[in-house]
Amino acid sequence: MLVFPMTWTLNKKIGFVLLANSFIAVITACVILLAVNIRINRDIMVSDLVTLTDVIGHNIRTALSLNSKEEAREMLHGLAARSSVLSASVYDHRKKIFACYKCERSHEVSPDGARLLPGTVFTGSTLRIVKEITADGHVMGYIELVDDIGALRGIVRISLIVLGAVLLGALVLVSFSPIILKKYVSRPILDLAVKASSITAHGDYSIRVKTGSSDEIGLLGKAFNQMLDRIEKQNDELKTSKRLLELSVEDRTRELMEAQEKLLRTEKLATIGQLSGSIAHELRTPLSAIKGSGYFLRSLLKDLSEPRIIKHLNIIDSEIFSADRIISDVLFFGRMRPPMPAENDINTIIGEVLNCILIRNNIELVYARGAGLPPVMIDDFQIKQVMNNVIDNAMQSIEGAGKITVKTYAEPGWLVTEVSDTGCGIRKEDLGKIFEPLFSTKIRGTGLGLAICKNIMDMHRGVIDVASESGKGSSFYIKIPIGGCLNGEG
Ligand SMILES: Nc1ncnc2c1ncn2[C@@H]1O[C@H](COP(=O)(O)OP(=O)(O)O)[C@@H](O)[C@H]1O
Ligand SMILES: [Mg+2]
Repeated sequence: MLVFPMTWTLNKKIGFVLLANSFIAVITACVILLAVNIRINRDIMVSDLVTLTDVIGHNIRTALSLNSKEEAREMLHGLAARSSVLSASVYDHRKKIFACYKCERSHEVSPDGARLLPGTVFTGSTLRIVKEITADGHVMGYIELVDDIGALRGIVRISLIVLGAVLLGALVLVSFSPIILKKYVSRPILDLAVKASSITAHGDYSIRVKTGSSDEIGLLGKAFNQMLDRIEKQNDELKTSKRLLELSVEDRTRELMEAQEKLLRTEKLATIGQLSGSIAHELRTPLSAIKGSGYFLRSLLKDLSEPRIIKHLNIIDSEIFSADRIISDVLFFGRMRPPMPAENDINTIIGEVLNCILIRNNIELVYARGAGLPPVMIDDFQIKQVMNNVIDNAMQSIEGAGKITVKTYAEPGWLVTEVSDTGCGIRKEDLGKIFEPLFSTKIRGTGLGLAICKNIMDMHRGVIDVASESGKGSSFYIKIPIGGCLNGEG
């Protein structure tokens, strides 16, 4: 079997096979043609000479019977018209020379007469024919004709030249085959290979090969493109299902995290609930005693105008107030009850809250009451708690001078109370945590205020939301559903 070097390109291999096959085919055809040509020309030459010999033999019979050597010689001299005749001799029945043309080649026949056996003999460059001359079935003599077959050699030579030219032409034509092969075979295959490796390298299944022809390579290209169509389709399907899977995993993860958060919150709430009652009670008793003593001291020292004593009595009062606030938060959180809704006007509730709040001197409070707001079904005590906590936080967020704006308005389906401040704002990373119980950024914060607000709003099927920018301030949106049929079941 033919084995090609590994480094040969397809083009080179096909070119080599074509060249070798064409070479063998043309050589074989040339040899056969040459042989046939020689054979045909030789046969023509032989039959031509046999006819000539027959004619002369026939005509010379009279001269032989009359023993007229002169007539016979003249007849033979008629052969001068045929230049290829080298010699012609006529022998009598005893095989003795009777007459000859170009006699130097003719000679007496040997006694056994072997040379004059009728037949055709080819020597290197001549064709010799011997024929009997007969009359009425008797051999009268013999005729011998020797012809130069140089013409046959000439024909062979010309044939060889023509065949050589054909061979050369065929080889030249075949040698162009790699160029044609390159265009129609190896280039499309190479293109296919380059595209295939590019697809493998970059994973780009949108690449396609050109499919102009309907031959085998064209079919291969079409099949390749169809395969890519299918891969691309499957790839798209895979991407879609991957995306869907990712989305569903994300959904599940979020749900899980939410469930976990809820659980954690419930656990925290339960723990706080258990502790809060007893601790708050324990603290409230000594706190009441301190408060009573403070009050008693203040009444005793009422007439004293010592500013330091007044200052410290104020400190005691304010600290008792904040400790009481903390205890209230803890107690409230631990014993959160379902709302007891009643029809209420939000503006009235906020007015009452603002009346009870002590606003620092350097804080400007703006209250923009929305006009014509519908009444809502709410637990006024709990909603006041929400407003108190949010406004409290707003005040605590302002260091030095600042402004708190409380706005009420309606939007489709909701009654909104917006509490904005020019305070420190909330860091982005804290925004998601501020409604969690126990999350606080303050040194003395309980982290329960907004958790209580959220719980109350949840129970009212409302929403508490925040928008804040660190360093610029925050806005809290307390949204109560309008026309919600809250009935206290929680
Ligand atoms: N108006 C506000 N401006 C800036 N930060 C706020 C505001 N309201 C709430 N926060 C942040 O939310 C946290 C939780 O508030 P809260 O639940 O009331 O707990 P606490 O007030 O005891 O810290 C606060 O510690 C604070 O970091
Ligand atoms: Mg607070």
